[in-house]
Amino acid sequence: MSDFIHVSVAWPYANGDLHVGHLAGAYLPADIFARYHRLKGNRVLMVSGSDSHGTPITVEADRRGITARELFEYYHRRFLETQLAIGISYDLFTHTDTENHHRIAQDFFLRLYEAGHLYRQVQRQLYSETQGRFLPDRYVEGTCPRCGYTEARGDQCDNCGNLLEATELIDPRSKIDGSRPVVRETEHFFFNLPAFSDRLLAYLEEHAHHWRGNVVKFTRNYIQGGLKGRPVTRDIEWGVSVPLPDWSDKRLYVWFEAVMGYFTASVEWAKNIGQPEAWKDWWYNPQARIYNFIGKDNIPFHTVIWPAELLGVDRIYEQDESRHLNLPFDVPANEFMNIEGRQFSKSRNWAIWLPDILQRHDPDAIRYYVAATMPETRDSDFGWADYVRRNNDELVAAWGNLAHRVLSFAYRHWEGRVPEPGELRAIDQELLARVEEGFETVGGLLEAVKLRAALNEALGLARAVNGYLDRAPWFAVVKEDKAEAARTVYTALRAVDSIKTLLAPFLPFSSQLLHRMLGYQGELFGEQRIETFQEESRSHEALVYDASRATGRWEASELPPGQALQKPKPLFKKLEDSVVDEERARLGQSSG
Ligand code: MF3
Ligand code: ZN
Repeated sequence: MSDFIHVSVAWPYANGDLHVGHLAGAYLPADIFARYHRLKGNRVLMVSGSDSHGTPITVEADRRGITARELFEYYHRRFLETQLAIGISYDLFTHTDTENHHRIAQDFFLRLYEAGHLYRQVQRQLYSETQGRFLPDRYVEGTCPRCGYTEARGDQCDNCGNLLEATELIDPRSKIDGSRPVVRETEHFFFNLPAFSDRLLAYLEEHAHHWRGNVVKFTRNYIQGGLKGRPVTRDIEWGVSVPLPDWSDKRLYVWFEAVMGYFTASVEWAKNIGQPEAWKDWWYNPQARIYNFIGKDNIPFHTVIWPAELLGVDRIYEQDESRHLNLPFDVPANEFMNIEGRQFSKSRNWAIWLPDILQRHDPDAIRYYVAATMPETRDSDFGWADYVRRNNDELVAAWGNLAHRVLSFAYRHWEGRVPEPGELRAIDQELLARVEEGFETVGGLLEAVKLRAALNEALGLARAVNGYLDRAPWFAVVKEDKAEAARTVYTALRAVDSIKTLLAPFLPFSSQLLHRMLGYQGELFGEQRIETFQEESRSHEALVYDASRATGRWEASELPPGQALQKPKPLFKKLEDSVVDEERARLGQSSG
């Protein structure tokens, strides 16, 4: 029986390019996890999209003198290309400005409204007298009332992670012109979050034993600190309209509707594949498991606010009253990835932009390094010297050279075929048994979202094969005892074939190349492409994943003797030390 696994990935704001922080925080772990489950034969639905609304978009569009739509469409297109290039295998990567998303977000709002979970309240909001308009969250900066950080934003403090209301800021200033805003009254809808406290705590405690410690701790403190009603509409023009008469000048708050994207994109996917009810297998099936891959700054939205929205909506587009929407099963939030010991900063261009490094580095080399240093339990660091060292010592020396050495030897001495091994010796059987166990150990770690440990374990098996080749007879004896050499080479090839599968979730491109060199025809994974979808009045592009031709299986190799090999090529490139200085010199440069 296959499991239904929903892989929901944080929706990046489409206001700038993707960088390694995005990759390390959410996209790469989500992709590794999704690919593993696909190989296991589980039914995976992995969705995300561009977050196209809210002040992060409008502030940047204003700065450049273009419209919000122009800005987000530009970056959306780049997100599609970047993620295609680095192999993030979304079943659907769409955006929040689709008619589908607008409609469903409004239906969610109405369900909450009709169930009495939304109330109107006059709110005190910062208003710019110089601009003649309300200044929502990110248009304001000031001092954090919780920790005293002087550059807190109006929606959240980047220093302590607490969510804020702009009016709480000490010494607020407008980001448009630096002027000091005044407080004015405006009416908004509020989500009655406190009404869900008990159910949210019960939900937390039900999952606390298998969630990451930092996620449990943050969430518990957040709920026990006392939840407050949260405004879910804003005085802004860009966004999803409030589906009620007399509210035409307000929009849904971006965070309120962006998290719904996990649901709306699932519905869009089902429609796109011509099975409009298919999303229900993940959203109403009590056995399905939903995993939200996010960075730690997004924790409260995913462990408190989004679950409360789902509890409040309870059921939508479904007649059967015994069914309820699923809540996230796990929220494996990652910490941050620093760069050369310093925090990412867009304004100082202290960043490693993916479209840029993809011009010089292979996707699997980047994926390898980011997975090996993934900030799962604490902040980690992307360092170029470390990148070069790990690329050369681990990816190339321990794995790439192993595969290449064995394949070339077999290709040369057995007429391009997998040798006939005859009876395997004890040392061969031991190695193969050990590698076979990897499907349990590496798989168990992947399932528990311990991806760094899983990668380490798989690489350890590659090292075991290297150790085996130091002991078993092959190189020296191929002339005088070819049968002995055949046993060794067959065993090593078969081990490499298995390790190819163990590493495939991490290194999908090179694993596929190796798959071919080992003489297989099929594709390990499905095919990713950019497609255009037409809605009633607009069309949009999205990244899709077509699994129909995927043949990869999470199981040990049974490499058929005699199988024709392909002429082997090196899988990875050794990097020169000069790369370190070249790459470091790009950091902090003003033109990115
Ligand atoms: N756009 C937000 C960010 O980049 C993340 C949104 S995640 C979602 O931080 F769940 F709301 F979609
Ligand atoms: Zn703070």
